[in-house]
Amino acid sequence: MNILILGSGGREHTFAYKIAQSNHCDALFVAPGNAGTSQIATNVAIGVTDFDAIKTLVIKEEIGMVVVGPEDPLVQGVYDFFKADQSLKNVAVIGPSKVGAALEGSKERAKEFMMAHNIPTAAYEAFTAETLDKGQAFLETLQAPYVLKADGLAAGKGVLIIDNLEEAKQELANMLGGKFGDASATVVIEEFLDGIELSVFVLTDGKNYKVLPTAKDYKRIGEGDVGLNTGGMGAISPVPFADDAFMQKIEERIVKPTVNGLSKEDIEYKGFIFIGLIKVGDDPKVIEYNVRMGDPETEVVLPRIQSDLVELFMAVDAQTLDKQEFKLDPRSAATVMLVSGGYPEAYEKGKVITGLDTVKDSLVFHAGTTEKDGQVVTNGGRVIAITSFDDDFKQAIKKSYQNIEKLHFDRINYRTDIGFDL
Ligand code: AMP
Ligand code: GLY
Repeated sequence: MNILILGSGGREHTFAYKIAQSNHCDALFVAPGNAGTSQIATNVAIGVTDFDAIKTLVIKEEIGMVVVGPEDPLVQGVYDFFKADQSLKNVAVIGPSKVGAALEGSKERAKEFMMAHNIPTAAYEAFTAETLDKGQAFLETLQAPYVLKADGLAAGKGVLIIDNLEEAKQELANMLGGKFGDASATVVIEEFLDGIELSVFVLTDGKNYKVLPTAKDYKRIGEGDVGLNTGGMGAISPVPFADDAFMQKIEERIVKPTVNGLSKEDIEYKGFIFIGLIKVGDDPKVIEYNVRMGDPETEVVLPRIQSDLVELFMAVDAQTLDKQEFKLDPRSAATVMLVSGGYPEAYEKGKVITGLDTVKDSLVFHAGTTEKDGQVVTNGGRVIAITSFDDDFKQAIKKSYQNIEKLHFDRINYRTDIGFDL
């Protein structure tokens, strides 16, 4: 089968790496891809939301499966676009329908879904410009810190956590006044949950599911988890404190009701669910759903899956995931993200990356890279993820750092403390 991956980050290179290993994969395409995916697949310069260009490519290359990396095409309805088109409807699309993708596209929708299916989450209320006064009054009933969330997609910047009541009231007014454009036309205010975060990944065909490995990512730019938020500076899988008893709670209280809820609401959902959780005391509570894999979580989760990924995806498409065997590598995986100096604020591109072929015992996943005059150069804020395995996650991290010593580009930056809190 010919397969197309949509996206261009470390997540998509990791998908390409796993999919290229499958006997079911004949030709592999990535749109638009990066310098890493071009080594194992054919890159096509098409944007992930250019559905017409994607259609032309799928027909021309006789593609039988499309794996969607980022949320934008899902929230914009790429799944529905395929299913509504006579010439595309038999193509397997790995990703939820537009209605399913609203679990990430709208925080209010996600909260309503959790309430409807008794899934543990923070108490909340949603407000619009018309109900600003009520929103400010609601804030007065809560304890600090105050959690304000833009309803729509805001490139990971739409959540504000504020200590001071007056400031929170002002920010609510700013958000409803268009601080994040349409994305903050509705704002969800929720109870602050105090605990340690982790993410659980699920692959579902809409009826059956497999719980994939857990992961923890490190979002802040600075060591000790300080400074600006990034897309993610590193990740570890599995999460050491997610023991069997805790995982059982997650499966019974969160994963099953989520998948059953999708099925009860007749939502077509053939793809990944990324559940952001906080462990409050001994109990898991959901802070968010994403309808895709995480980045850099994918760089530690997928390499630990020993089963054939394309076979799993074929079973997702046929809704026979329950019949599929699922094998995991018991070792830990750790990844460290190399980023451009200045990221997540302004940074330069086009810096030559050296040392990539000297990496030993680690996997190199490209994120923001491209080729220029036969060289690999930086092309984004997050540039390269280095993933390593070991029985112990601390040893895995050490291997990544040993390899990073051999890599170079001008103004390279990375966190040296991935896993510090575990
Ligand atoms: P989200 O985009 O919903 O994942 O929120 C971004 C970050 O804000 C999360 O990774 C958490 O660190 C934090 N966060 C979100 N909701 C809450 C909450 N109710 N209580 C505490 N922290 C939260
Ligand atoms: N690393 C967080 C995300 O992919 O949303």
